[in-house]
Amino acid sequence: MNRNFIFVFILLATFSMVNAIPHQLRKGKIKFHSCMSKTDIIDVTVKPDSIVSEYPANYTASGKLSHAIIADKTTFGVTYFVADGSVPLGDPYKQYFDKSYKAGKNFTISAEDVPTPLLSKVYQIYVNIWDEEIGTIACVFTKVNR
Ligand SMILES: *[C@@H]1O[C@H](CO)[C@@H](O)[C@H](O)[C@H]1NC(C)=O
Ligand SMILES: *[C@@H]1O[C@H](CO)[C@@H](O)[C@H](O)[C@H]1NC(C)=O
Repeated sequence: MNRNFIFVFILLATFSMVNAIPHQLRKGKIKFHSCMSKTDIIDVTVKPDSIVSEYPANYTASGKLSHAIIADKTTFGVTYFVADGSVPLGDPYKQYFDKSYKAGKNFTISAEDVPTPLLSKVYQIYVNIWDEEIGTIACVFTKVNR
């Protein structure tokens, strides 16, 4: 199977759990929540605070992972989904880390000008860290009602 397909499939598999979490209704900074119990949590900030349909956004992620991050092998990804998480909006964004970090060490990564698809009124954003051998290392998501 194509890797992007597997990636999306894993995201969809977590949907039933994720759907139990309430919408983010208030305005202000976007807050991310864990999407899978077996993966690490990362801190993610997005600029601008209110994402604008079809205008690129900058993502910064940081944290400490239980797996090593390997340059040119581990990827940072951002995927937008429709409100119920069933269909991706646009193409998943993927960027390889350009630095390696040992397990348990603080890491940070910035992704600039991540394309924003045409957004539905309510949409979800999944941010994940992926390793081709391990699979998803870290995953957070949010549901936004704009
Ligand atoms: C994203 O980062 C680039 C480069 O630093 C900057 O030019 C741009 O204004 C930033 N965009 C937002 C929405 O902050
Ligand atoms: C790692 O990140 C945490 C949380 O941001 C911070 O408190 C700690 O000082 C950092 N450790 C190092 C070695 O930078």
